[in-house]
Amino acid sequence: KKKLKIGLIGFGVVGQGLYDVLQKSPALDAEILSICVKNKKKRSLPDELFCYNPDEILNNGDINLVVELISDADEAYHIVKKSLLSGKDVVSANKKMIAENLEELIQIQKEKNVSLLYEASACGSIPVIRNLEEYYDNDLLLSVTGILNGSSNYILSKIFDHNKDYDSALKEAQELGFAEADPSFDVDGFDSLFKLIILTAHSFGTVVNPKDVLHYGISNISDFDIQYAKEKDFKIKLVGQVEKLENNKISLFVLPRLVKRDKYIYNVEDEFNGVVIKGLAYDKQFMFGKGAGGHPTGSAVLSDITAIAHNYRYEYKKMNYYSSFEYEKDVIIEI
Ligand code: HSE
Repeated sequence: KKKLKIGLIGFGVVGQGLYDVLQKSPALDAEILSICVKNKKKRSLPDELFCYNPDEILNNGDINLVVELISDADEAYHIVKKSLLSGKDVVSANKKMIAENLEELIQIQKEKNVSLLYEASACGSIPVIRNLEEYYDNDLLLSVTGILNGSSNYILSKIFDHNKDYDSALKEAQELGFAEADPSFDVDGFDSLFKLIILTAHSFGTVVNPKDVLHYGISNISDFDIQYAKEKDFKIKLVGQVEKLENNKISLFVLPRLVKRDKYIYNVEDEFNGVVIKGLAYDKQFMFGKGAGGHPTGSAVLSDITAIAHNYRYEYKKMNYYSSFEYEKDVIIEI
């Protein structure tokens, strides 16, 4: 097992969540040597632990694992790339950064023989990436459909079940640490989109350009839509889906959908996420868990740290297996 000396970059909701869950895992041989933050302020940890320039972590020869947990995707990209190029393993939770740069990041991992893990980037505490990577390695897989954004689902739950209005529900999602720094990222469907891109790479071996995918969020749902859904005994959920079509093609979308009572995702409430995996031999499987929040997401980061300690890396074997499907840009499939 590898002894891990961690440089943590970012100490927001997820960074602090990780710190807490790490304290509860003494068996893991991992020590945080330094935490890089933006601003000096009074914190509950000793001042010596903090630094203010990521280069201090990147240039620290004792650090062999960089854990990147900041929200700015461009800055995260530079940090992650530099870390990998200098031979350090990386754990990241930055879905935008990963979705937009996946091809290059895979290439660097191969060339430099290092590992980048990002279980926390999709669906918080649900171990969906590693399951797609490890278990579904065959032609049976048909589709992956899910509620991928905790904040949007939290807001919709409060509107449907507690008659709250949109603005106060969004405010709550922000206060609880579920929403992104810029919440339009959540409610306009981008967060779900980036997560879907990542899930698509690990389910069908195709790296899709986010710009090619139809995506809407929940910010334009009207009172009329809510009323209509209630009258018909539906709920509205923000759904992301990738589905295999004929002729080695896949189709994907992120859209608010009317969901019937008999669907698994109907009962996914609050900040929970739920992913339904359909396959030829097993019909449906359903994975469910908290999709946002410091401790749930921190626990996914922790699982990656543990995996790195065991020298785990994604093999991206489906990229060869499916010989990379093309994707259909304009098709919407019923769920
Ligand atoms: N803002 C994200 C969400 C956080 O609400 O799902 C977890 O990725």
